[in-house]
Amino acid sequence: MLQPISAGTAKSDIVVLPNDTNHYGNIFGGALLSYMDRTAFIAARKYAQNDLVTVALNDMVFKAPVKVGETAEISAKVCYVGKTSLDVCVTVMSGEKKIVDNAKFVFVSVDRSGKPVPVAQPSFANAEEKAEFERRAKERKRE
Ligand SMILES: CC(C)(COP(=O)(O)OP(=O)(O)OC[C@H]1O[C@@H](n2cnc3c(N)ncnc32)[C@H](O)[C@@H]1OP(=O)(O)O)[C@@H](O)C(=O)NCCC(=O)NCCS
Repeated sequence: MLQPISAGTAKSDIVVLPNDTNHYGNIFGGALLSYMDRTAFIAARKYAQNDLVTVALNDMVFKAPVKVGETAEISAKVCYVGKTSLDVCVTVMSGEKKIVDNAKFVFVSVDRSGKPVPVAQPSFANAEEKAEFERRAKERKRE
């Protein structure tokens, strides 16, 4: 069965409140990771239509801080699909400021006993989607 890769997308807006900040008044990295993981999970589940667990996080760099009171937009999309795993690429923007660029959350589709099970293979609406998938497949081979 094929699933359009574009089915695996999600976005979340957050506002940085004091309980999510460090002592410098910037968002605490662990809090932002948690919001990113949730958004990535939603994208992954929309694609896989199955239970998933997070197995790895790659290319995670905090490029700029988000200050208390500021908002940020988290964008997540499935960018690679293996046999039982899939990667969700996540970017975070605060206005024009890039906070995180293309972090990769890797999820594994599992059955009720937590054993990996196959995910649907992707179909592509255009050459751009296919090229991005192939780029990520090459990166995966090098990791
Ligand atoms: C995820 C889990 C089920 C994988 O089990 P496993 O026996 O290692 O399974 P496999 O070795 O067959 O790997 C399954 C898939 O995960 C991928 N994978 C495993 N470790 C990986 C890693 N470090 N980075 C990227 N992919 C990884 C494999 O490449 C494979 O992908 P494929 O089927 O698309 O080729 C198991 O490691 C687990 O339960 N981990 C804990 C998950 C968890 O609790 N997460 C936190 C809360 S959600």
